[in-house]
Amino acid sequence: MTTLVTGIGELATLDDSLDGADHDEGLGLLHDAAVVVDDADEVLWVGPASAAPAADRRRDVGGRAVIPAFVDSHTHLVFAGDRSREFAARMTGTAYDGGGISTTVAATREASDEELRVLLRERVDEMRRQGSNVIEVKSGYGLTVDGEERALRLAREVTDEVTFLGGHVVPVEFASRRDEFVDLVTGPMLGAAREHARWIDVFCEPHSAHAFTGEEARTILEAGRAAGLGLRVHGNQLGPGPGVRLAVELAAASVDHCTHLTVADVDALAAASETTVATLLPGVEFSTRSPYPDARALVDAGVTVALATDCNPGTCYSSSMPFVIALAVREMGLTPAQALRAATVGAAASLRRSDIGVIRVGAQPGLTTLDAPSHLHLAYRPGVPLARLLDLSAPPLLDSREPPT
Ligand code: NIG
Ligand code: FE
Repeated sequence: MTTLVTGIGELATLDDSLDGADHDEGLGLLHDAAVVVDDADEVLWVGPASAAPAADRRRDVGGRAVIPAFVDSHTHLVFAGDRSREFAARMTGTAYDGGGISTTVAATREASDEELRVLLRERVDEMRRQGSNVIEVKSGYGLTVDGEERALRLAREVTDEVTFLGGHVVPVEFASRRDEFVDLVTGPMLGAAREHARWIDVFCEPHSAHAFTGEEARTILEAGRAAGLGLRVHGNQLGPGPGVRLAVELAAASVDHCTHLTVADVDALAAASETTVATLLPGVEFSTRSPYPDARALVDAGVTVALATDCNPGTCYSSSMPFVIALAVREMGLTPAQALRAATVGAAASLRRSDIGVIRVGAQPGLTTLDAPSHLHLAYRPGVPLARLLDLSAPPLLDSREPPT
């Protein structure tokens, strides 16, 4: 079944080669536009409403702005338990050092498969209600062979973008035997993970006793690469460190956080802009009272930048890409257009994908509507639930400005 979506006041296609679009800010903007999609979200046609072809059905979005669905390229959604008190303590001055992860590991190990499945699905639904479609999901709160295998298997039920994060922290039972834990991660755990995961990630952070040094992180990433997984890195979150340059050296698809960058880190990321994306997670700076990195300086240096939520119980329990965009504009110096690019095509690039984050014939991004006339409202109206994934199976009145009769 094909659907013609009409009544699009502003369409941000993110397609930089679309004829007739306004490319001034890199959004490929059309006004009074229409899109034809099929039930698998594949885009069949894009252009001015006046030239739209016929389709099996029609959906009018009442003058709203439409964007490609957000790509949330960094989340940790498979967990149980609550760490709101840790957040409250941080707001009165306690620093984040990764130690609270063990609280979530204990609660997650206690939970049944079905409890974790329900929690995961609720979180994914919450994201879709805020305009996200493709979501990356990491393991990392099991930290046993069975616990990691289970998290990855559950994640695979909701996404293809599954990441093995056995190298999240050294669990307390291995605190005096770090080498043995690295052997476990790179041996039996990785052996169980490779069936479900596309990516491997590691928390490389010399400023946390719980996380991994540059050399430990290298060992884990090289083992993952040898097992056929793509590479991602949590780097430079708590202070300057080796994460960014290790990610660039190993041609990782993404290095995430990038809170504390040196000039050499920025130069390395700029030189690797075709290979390694800098994924910024401003919800983490918000929730840990950390300084925000200068995203504008990264863009100006030629770095490929992505934005993601990092939705997790410790450093940012927000599932909202619009919130992330508003923070990136207000606190990190991005223009609204740069932030939207980072949350769509930028995040898609960090997953090495060109079929999402863009409304182009043949792509399958999912369409997100904004209860607003333009994308500018994402940052202009923070905290207001403007964005949602267009559900073509839902009753049309949900997407129309017409009052119900
Ligand atoms: O991306 N920094 C490492 N991992 C997560 C936080 C995990 C937690 O505190 O539960 C992050 O910030
Ligand atoms: Fe993370």
